Amino acid sequence: MNPIDWKTCSGGGASGFIESFPFIPGWEFSGVVEALGEGVSGYQPGDAVLGFVRFPHPAGCYAEQLCAPADQITLRPEGLEATTAAGLGLAGLTAWQALFDKGQLQAGESVLILAGAGGVGHLAVQLAALEGAQVSATCSAANRDYLTSLGCHQVIDYRDLDMGTLAGQFDLILDGVGGDTAIDALITLKPGGRLVTLPL
Ligand SMILES: NC(=O)c1ccc[n+]([C@@H]2O[C@H](COP(=O)([O-])OP(=O)(O)OC[C@H]3O[C@@H](n4cnc5c(N)ncnc54)[C@H](OP(=O)(O)O)[C@@H]3O)[C@@H](O)[C@H]2O)c1
Repeated sequence: MNPIDWKTCSGGGASGFIESFPFIPGWEFSGVVEALGEGVSGYQPGDAVLGFVRFPHPAGCYAEQLCAPADQITLRPEGLEATTAAGLGLAGLTAWQALFDKGQLQAGESVLILAGAGGVGHLAVQLAALEGAQVSATCSAANRDYLTSLGCHQVIDYRDLDMGTLAGQFDLILDGVGGDTAIDALITLKPGGRLVTLPL
């Protein structure tokens, strides 16, 4: 389950795009191709695929079967379990877009990921480390070893964090928390630094 699913079912999120009921939630999935639409190439029945589709319009990915636009799915790599792949489409694209498309993160830069152990955060930690950035992330104490194992260079417990101790350290903040936490974190940016925030 992605946060957008419960937010939408609670009347927020993408609920404004629901045109009729019953509404089936879900925008990301993994599955197996049953059949191809006319003119579709690049896939065969039986291919394992994953995708993030039709957002913000209803896509119905909680259903057992769905019709997905071919340009919004991709082949599932061997070794990636279906259940893991099912949660990768939206969270993975969000992490990528936030870090690189919006955040313009470059190798050698320093990034602070707020909510580093979350669905987006744990992917962002890995992508930023792979890019060659210096990665710091906040989480609760129980997730310290987990984030270190993903390549995070500095793990910070948010429960007793004084942002002032990190003043002026980061080129980019990827904020998965929002509200006062994001505002307090602005002090940790270098002059000209960037903040990309996720919560709606
Ligand atoms: N998932 C997506 O694809 C996606 C896409 C677009 C936007 N968003 C938005 O991005 C936000 C995060 O989504 P998510 O899926 O990553 O959330 P999530 O999987 O529910 O994770 C939330 C994380 O927030 C952490 N946390 C709570 N309070 C914190 C604080 N004060 N400081 C630092 N970390 C704190 C928790 O850390 P601990 O477990 O370590 O305590 C938890 O791991 C949500 O608002 C969501 O709507 C998500």
